[in-house]
Amino acid sequence: MAVPILSLLLLFISIKSSADHVTNTFIDCLNNRSEPTFPITGTVYTPDNPSFSFVYYAYIRNHVFYNSTTTKPSLIITPLHVSHIQAAVICAQKHGMQMRTRSGGHDYEGLSYLSYSNSTPFFILDMFNLCSVDVNIEQETAWFQTGATLGEIYYRIAEKSNIMVSLVEFALRLRLVDIAVEVESMGEDLFWAITGGGGASFGVVLAFSFKLVCVPSQVTFFDVKRTSEKGIINIAYKWFLIAHKLDNDLFVRMSFDVVTNRKGMKSIRASFPSLFLENSTRLLSLVNDNFPELGLRESHCVEMSWVESTLAYAGSWLEHPSRLYFIELNNLKEIDHSRSNQTT
Ligand SMILES: Cc1cc2nc3c(=O)[nH]c(=O)nc-3n(C[C@H](O)[C@H](O)[C@H](O)COP(=O)(O)OP(=O)(O)OC[C@H]3O[C@@H](n4cnc5c(N)ncnc54)[C@H](O)[C@@H]3O)c2cc1C
Ligand SMILES: *[C@@H]1O[C@H](CO)[C@@H](O)[C@H](O)[C@H]1NC(C)=O
Ligand SMILES: *[C@@H]1O[C@H](CO)[C@@H](O)[C@H](O)[C@H]1NC(C)=O
Ligand SMILES: *[C@@H]1O[C@H](CO)[C@@H](O)[C@H](O)[C@H]1NC(C)=O
Repeated sequence: MAVPILSLLLLFISIKSSADHVTNTFIDCLNNRSEPTFPITGTVYTPDNPSFSFVYYAYIRNHVFYNSTTTKPSLIITPLHVSHIQAAVICAQKHGMQMRTRSGGHDYEGLSYLSYSNSTPFFILDMFNLCSVDVNIEQETAWFQTGATLGEIYYRIAEKSNIMVSLVEFALRLRLVDIAVEVESMGEDLFWAITGGGGASFGVVLAFSFKLVCVPSQVTFFDVKRTSEKGIINIAYKWFLIAHKLDNDLFVRMSFDVVTNRKGMKSIRASFPSLFLENSTRLLSLVNDNFPELGLRESHCVEMSWVESTLAYAGSWLEHPSRLYFIELNNLKEIDHSRSNQTT
């Protein structure tokens, strides 16, 4: 028995050292290829770096993959400058490393950070440092780099104006590394290529330009909840009939979860988190004329700015009224844990 175990061990050691060798020559190449004025050294995390796990897990948004058997990358590069991305692509090709580009890490299948092959070494090009948001209120546009989260984008826009927001549908231009493209003239192939959705991407998108749209300075948020089972069926049925026919500026969403009452009994709960793009003046009669089953009352309605409504939607408003905060990378892990049941 001793001999096969020993040879397995030797095989394992030789695979590991050849992987280490690839990683080391790859890192040499990165250093050689990056511009001396923007050294790449501090942006490269190898598994022996104490922050490696934190950086790796921080943007794993599907918690099915948040486990120790997931194949880890040989390294993570967190570019601070476009030359780091160029060096990563050139060196990956030269040294047979696969690359995963990760922006938000929300991909359902985890394609931005997983590899299903144990034999081909791969690394993550993690864009989270490239998160600048440049808002131009006069032109009603904003450029943001792909590492920016929606929260960062909304926050930066709200710093300059509480009557403008960006909508994802309004993409105008994007900057692939080395090329700038107008969305209207990019052609279908490039459009589909840059929307991701594959293990291997077409290029690395550095930034997007978006059109801003106007919203009123005050919008109204409400979140009616119902737990009586009989009531839920009636309300849900009515919602299916009318939700899409309501005023264009009124969005009533329906979602379900399970709650435990004081006696320890479980029951289903329906929630109707909703946003009206106006102050509350017209809202009560609008809802009660079309959807009286909901039982909307004035006390449910809270007027706030649009950016505050994004927090209300995320469920944080009622716990921290009137507190807008900028979530730093350090807080992400904690927040993710509390939401882990939403990411499956
Ligand atoms: C909990 C949850 C809720 C969601 N809710 C919504 C929703 O409400 N509406 C909706 O539309 N979608 C939703 N999605 C889907 C999500 O929008 C998509 O998965 C989207 O691709 C996530 O973007 P990301 O930057 O986080 O992707 P990532 O996971 O970082 O990457 C997705 C793909 O694009 C590639 N890629 C990443 N960055 C770049 C880059 N800079 N250049 C080139 N290629 C790149 C990756 O390699 C991967 O193949 C949700 C997903 C989850 C997990
Ligand atoms: C990096 O540059 C040095 C000096 O120019 C050279 O000796 C070395 O072979 C290069 N390494 C790689 C991986 O290209
Ligand atoms: C752990 O992650 C892998 C993918 O990396 C997945 O296939 C597996 O199902 C996960 N295991 C658990 C227990 O969730
Ligand atoms: C509510 O909005 C309407 C129209 O947008 C406006 O005329 C009215 O003055 C606003 N009411 C309050 C109390 O701000």
